[in-house]
Amino acid sequence: MLEVIHISDTHLGPDRSLDIRGANSCARTEALVKSINALPFLPDFIVHTGDVANDPDPGAYALAQEVLSDLKAPVYYATGNHDDVSMMRDALTFGEHTSLVEESADQLCYRIGGTIKEKVQFYVMDGWVPPEEGPHGFLSENQVEAVLSDITGEKPVAIFLHYPLVPVGSKWIDEHLLTRNGLAFQQRLLAAAGSQLRGVFTGHLHRGLKLFHGGVFHSGVSSPACEFTAGPEDDFCDFLPGGPIPFNHVSFTGDATLVKSYSLPLEA
Ligand SMILES: [Fe+2]
Repeated sequence: MLEVIHISDTHLGPDRSLDIRGANSCARTEALVKSINALPFLPDFIVHTGDVANDPDPGAYALAQEVLSDLKAPVYYATGNHDDVSMMRDALTFGEHTSLVEESADQLCYRIGGTIKEKVQFYVMDGWVPPEEGPHGFLSENQVEAVLSDITGEKPVAIFLHYPLVPVGSKWIDEHLLTRNGLAFQQRLLAAAGSQLRGVFTGHLHRGLKLFHGGVFHSGVSSPACEFTAGPEDDFCDFLPGGPIPFNHVSFTGDATLVKSYSLPLEA
């Protein structure tokens, strides 16, 4: 059994004052950390699926390190469309991992290590594209090859990245926020991992998400900063500030993936 906490989209500013549509992202992230630390168990690890910062700024990552390093378990980070890989590498403490791309590359693509590495093959991938092209994602072939060739098919596999791979049934999101080659990657992933594929875990939507597509389980967690609308015919995502603070507790058992969603009230 592995116990994992999934968080995302903290959107921290260069100092503690940043409000996003009236919600202070630092105060809400600090409340998130406090709640995770108060859980009656110690997670094996915590994964943050990107948008650590609201804008790529060294001060934002210094603040992220200050706030998120209070978490009691190793933390792994994926790159969001608001993030900068080199700033993340410089400022953030990652749990033990094995990089699957050149360390100098502008990509965070790695196998999660530490105490779990003998049990499972869990990967963090980087779908970042330049802001002028985004906010969709794209998985480069070097990453796809590296991950797929690493999968043995003998251990449970999970993928963590910022951008959802498959349509979620909301017009603007499906046109603008997905991994452009997500469906093709899912097919290849399924071929490599088979029944060992235990799920794909994402952020970016500022919405909780659980869906089953093509035989693959997908789970997303919302943002502590603000939520988006996601109506079927929405032409754009509107902001819904002031929502509860979300995190997912994901349990990987011998034969199942269980997601328990937390929505914490907040005074901040
Ligand atoms: Fe975000």
